[in-house]
Amino acid sequence: MARVLLLNGPNLNLLGSREPGVYGADTLESIEKRAAELAREAGHELVAFQSNAEAELIGRIHGAAAAGISFLIFNPAALTHTSIALRDALLAVRLPFVEVHLSNTHAREPFRRHSYFSDIAAGVITGLGAFGYELAVRAAVRHLAKPS
Ligand code: DQA
Repeated sequence: MARVLLLNGPNLNLLGSREPGVYGADTLESIEKRAAELAREAGHELVAFQSNAEAELIGRIHGAAAAGISFLIFNPAALTHTSIALRDALLAVRLPFVEVHLSNTHAREPFRRHSYFSDIAAGVITGLGAFGYELAVRAAVRHLAKPS
């Protein structure tokens, strides 16, 4: 049994009511619940955390290993396109992660095309809505099954 951290960045607490045409109708609570169920079915535990504050996300990443986390699923939201600090936090703790975006960031404004995370992620899932989180859990399960 491993522990996976599902981390969501700014404004994702508003999922369900936030631009549903772009982000879908699912709430963050339902996404987190489904992800936890899928992880449990595979014999793992998934804990979820969302914050609108960069510092809190960094704190969770720093504390991840001490909290027994061995894999992260991360949607940095708008911080995807701005946060060198979050990138550095992930590099510092050296925990594998999958980057998830609900919308297809490559089909939107040009400033969303660059991510500070994609080149250091184990994989990137973008544009598949809430289903992307389910795929990310499956990717986590597969990664955790590999001998380290
Ligand atoms: C997002 C895409 C980002 O560009 C945006 O700032 C978000 C959500 C997504 O999941 O599609 O807040 O990460």
